[in-house]
Order: sequence, then structure tokens, then C-alpha cells
Amino acid sequence: MCGIIGIIGAAPACPILVDGLKRLEYRGYDSAGLATLVVGRIERRRAEGKIANLEAVLAENPLSGTTGIGHTRWATHGSPSEANAHPHANAAVAVVHNGIIENFQTLKETLVAEGHVFESATDTEVIVHLVTRYLSQGLAPAEAATRAVGELAGAFALAMIFAGHSDLVIGARRGSPLAIGHGDGAMFLGSDALALAPLTKRICYLDDGDVVELTRDGAIIHDQAGALVERPIRETAVIGDAIGKGNFSHYMLKEIYEQPTVIGDTLASFINPASLEVSLPDLPVDFAALPHLQLLACGSSWHAALIARYWFESIARVPVEVDIASEFRYRAPVLAEGGAALAISQSGETADTLAALRLARQLGQTALAIVNVAESTLAREADGTLLTHAGPEVGVASTKAFTTQMTVLACLAIAAARARGVIDHQREAALSAAITEVPARVAEVLRHDAKLKELAEEIAAARHVLFLGRGTGYAVALEGALKLKEITYIPAEGFAAGEMKHGPIALIDNDIPIIVVAPSDQLFEKTASNMQEVIARGGRVIFLSDAEGIERLGDLAAASVEIPAVDAFVAPILYTIPVQLLAYHAAVIRGTDVDQPRNLAKSVTVE
Ligand code: G6P
Repeated sequence: MCGIIGIIGAAPACPILVDGLKRLEYRGYDSAGLATLVVGRIERRRAEGKIANLEAVLAENPLSGTTGIGHTRWATHGSPSEANAHPHANAAVAVVHNGIIENFQTLKETLVAEGHVFESATDTEVIVHLVTRYLSQGLAPAEAATRAVGELAGAFALAMIFAGHSDLVIGARRGSPLAIGHGDGAMFLGSDALALAPLTKRICYLDDGDVVELTRDGAIIHDQAGALVERPIRETAVIGDAIGKGNFSHYMLKEIYEQPTVIGDTLASFINPASLEVSLPDLPVDFAALPHLQLLACGSSWHAALIARYWFESIARVPVEVDIASEFRYRAPVLAEGGAALAISQSGETADTLAALRLARQLGQTALAIVNVAESTLAREADGTLLTHAGPEVGVASTKAFTTQMTVLACLAIAAARARGVIDHQREAALSAAITEVPARVAEVLRHDAKLKELAEEIAAARHVLFLGRGTGYAVALEGALKLKEITYIPAEGFAAGEMKHGPIALIDNDIPIIVVAPSDQLFEKTASNMQEVIARGGRVIFLSDAEGIERLGDLAAASVEIPAVDAFVAPILYTIPVQLLAYHAAVIRGTDVDQPRNLAKSVTVE
């Protein structure tokens, strides 16, 4: 239930809504739908699947009207069918929703007992019936919406239109974000500024509990207590231009190839190339005295956090804990007084990561964020933010955002080490030099693309794939397995190489490719032993190592890919590239939807 948009203006709403939905498709693409007011009547069009399917429906059966709402869905309650697609509507009101109504079952039972008939399996539909209940009691739309919203538990951003009210769109939010766009004789609602970018630069964000009435002339906002309030309007810098694939067949491949450039762009904002000193923007944290750092993230961003833990501990000697955001929230964490929490997120909109950072702040931690989207909710809410300069990432499977997150985290670890006095200038310069070299070395790794494409044949035919590594290589193994699962749907697992003998080694047979991440660092011998153990049991290993490692063990592996020899500190960034390319090529061979794999969303905005 993911991206929402609303418009009230003079121009036909439908093309504007569709265009906005395309920019929100990163929030889900299970179904899409629109509703407009046509001579005061609610009309809607919906389609299962991507927005392209909705466009086909609209081409057959166009929709007029200048007031309307739209939705692109990531299914939570109810299958991704047309019947469950938003808007949910009856003759009186149409509703689009991002979030989850946690008390929908109780509300639904009451409404059914009152005689309301439900048409979908969604939680959202209760809102339609609640609003209708209050409209039929004679309340005006805004009052009916406010009453209905007051009965909802959970998280939501909503947009509604009302039959017979062509100059009205109502919005409301709690938990999920909602932006208002101010145009000339037109007003807009959207899940983010990006959705509204081509329409207006003048954006304001609703606070939790706000209800807004949009007319063509402006917005009237009431807060949770019912008081009339104003929310500041800012000029957004977000640019909503369509991003092309260039000469690449998929966004994912383009984004993999952009990595030398965007890692370089990210470094340029954190490292002085002349003095090789890390200089970070001011953060409200004194690293010298920091007792504890809590890292919070989901998906690939969590893998970046796992890698960062090794760095913060070994280089900066900062006590670090890493949590999956959705787990952190419910494990009654005990955090050190005066500590900081750092959320890592490409989108800055992931609901679990946002909620985890809010909790950390409630528990007295300074809230920091690393995000790729500068005006995202996370960036706006955090006490201090560092930006990855990956540029827009379109492919659902994260690639360049992940490697730029590692880049920022590496710089932060160096800066923290300096602040704590645990490295001297010489060591700082050596670490900075190592990270500065990364763009060139990543470009070298990309030259193995053709070989990785060949190796992907075996992966694409496998029924199960394992990735092994130690230390930061373990986190790379997890990321490799995640990439492969996400876009090929082949079951894949990443293991700490030393843990194999405690169970997973039972999986080994002649048919399972095993990708071993093994830079020749201090853990090489240990990883090498674990690799011998799987080979002894018939495992076919694809060995990722440097010249020295391949010289020593390459003969044992079914295939080897040589990664440039670099300081162990930056190795995880380099070793990520081959696992991305293996997953990409295996997906192309299997013919899956590489950029928009089934069941996923680029950013998951529900808990
Ligand atoms: C989704 C995406 C993943 C991403 C994760 C976290 O699950 O499919 O690729 O790593 O969300 O997203 P974030 O925007 O918070 O980094």
C-alpha cells in the first residue's frame, strides 16, 4: 500500500496522476489505480500489476476530470488483484492509502454488523465505509474524514475525493509521510516531493495527525487536536526528470557500471584529495566521547551496516551494535547514555528504519542518518545526515547505493578514529589513500564482466547457491545471496565460512555452486580451510580472490575471478561488484524482471 497522489486543478487530472505514479513506483508495483470526479461523480480505473497495465486500461477507457487521486500498491492485506487495487470507493467517497490499518478487523466487524458490504480483502476499505457512515449522518466531508481518521490505529497517509465536491481533496497522515504541493490554481498531494517535482517546487510536509482540505486555492490544515495550523512551505530541490537506461539493457546494469563514478562523487564530498584528510559535515556527535553507536537498517543497507561494524570496531574502537530495523523496535534495546544511532537507507523512506530511528531518539540517542535521497523523511527527521551521492537508483535491487553507503561509512569510521585519537596521521592517510583508490579498482573489476557472465550460466541453472566469507567478506556473502534471491528467485544463502561445519555443510553436493569471497587478508588461511572442506565434499567453488590468493588456491576452485589487491579495509567494496554481476547475468539468463522483480518494492513504506 505504497505511493499516493492527489490533484485538484484546471488541467485533466489523469495524465498528471499517471506521471506522478510512475515516480512513486519505487514504493510498489503490485497494482495501480486512479479515481476522478466526472461531473461530480466518482469514476475509477484500476489494474493489477505495473502502471503500464493501468495505462493500457486508460487507453481503452479514458478518464476525464480535473480532481483526482491515484495509487501504486505493494500488497499487504489481500492479493495484488484488481479488486484489491486502490482507490477503494463507493458512490460517495474514494480513498487511497499508504500504510497499514492495524485495527481494521475490529472496525470491519462493526461496519458489517451495521450493514456495510465489503468488496475487497484490504484493510483500507474500512476507511471508505467509516467515512460513508459519517457522511450519511449528515457530516460534511472534512468532518466525516476527521471522525473516520480518529478511529484508525496504525500508520497511514490518505487522500480522498467526494462525490459532488469537485473543489475538494482531503489528505491525512499518521506515521506515513504526505507532502502538499502548492501550484497556481492547482494543489497536489503526494507521498514525497519526487511525485510532485514537475508540478511545483513549493512543498510543505504534513505533521503526524494532520488533516488537510485542499481546494484549488490552497490548503487548510488541522492538527491532531483539531487546531487550525500552518506548515512551512519550502522550495524543494528535487528534480523529477525521467532517468533513462542509456545504452544499457537494464537500470541495474547501468547502476552497476556507474559505481566508479558515484563512489568517486561520494568521496569527493568527504575526502580532501590533496591532504588525504577526511572532512565530514558537522554532525551533532562528539565521536571522541561516544560510548556506543547503534546502526539500524534493512535489506542491503543492513549489510552495509554489518560491514561498517567491523570498521568502527577495528579502526575507531567504537562499541557498535547492528540491528535489522524491524527487530530493533521490539527487542527492548538497552542503549548507552549519550550514544548515537545511525540509520542507513537509500530511500530514506523505509518504514521500519524510520520507526527504529525514532525509537532510538526516544531512548535518548542522537539520531543520525546516511541516505541517498536528500529530502527524504529520514533526512528531514535526523539530527544529522550524511549523503551518499549515488544519484537516483531505479533498479529495485540496490547496487550503487550499497557501495556508496560503504564509502560514506568508511569515511565516517576514519573520522571517528581520528576524533578518538586511535590512529595517527600516517594511518589516516593510508586508509584515505586506500579508499581514494576504490573508484579505479572498481573499474578494473568491471572488466571481468564477460567472465562473470559465463560463470552466471552455472548459477542460473542451479537449484541452490551458497556464498561464503569471513569478516567483512561474510557481509559481502550475505549481500551476494540477497542479490541473487531478489532478481533470480534462486534460493541462495550467505554463511560465515567458519559456521559451515556447524550445519550448512550438510547442503554440499556436486550441484550447488559455492561462491567464496576470500581476499588475502588476515582471515585468508581460515577461509581457505573452509573452502577445502567444501571442495572435499564435492562442492564446486567460484573463487573470488586477488592474485596472491589465486596463486595459492586457484587450482582447487572450479573457477576464479581475480580482484585487484587492495588494503583489506576497502576489499568489501570491490568484492561486491562480482556478486552483483553474477546475480544480474543469472537473472537475464533466467528471463526474470531484473529491474522490478516480483513481490518487491524499491522502498517498503509499511512495517
Ligand atoms: C527494499 C529493497 C532493498 C533495500 C531495502 C532497504 O527491500 O528491495 O533493495 O535494500 O528495501 O531500503 P532502503 O531504502 O532503506 O535502503
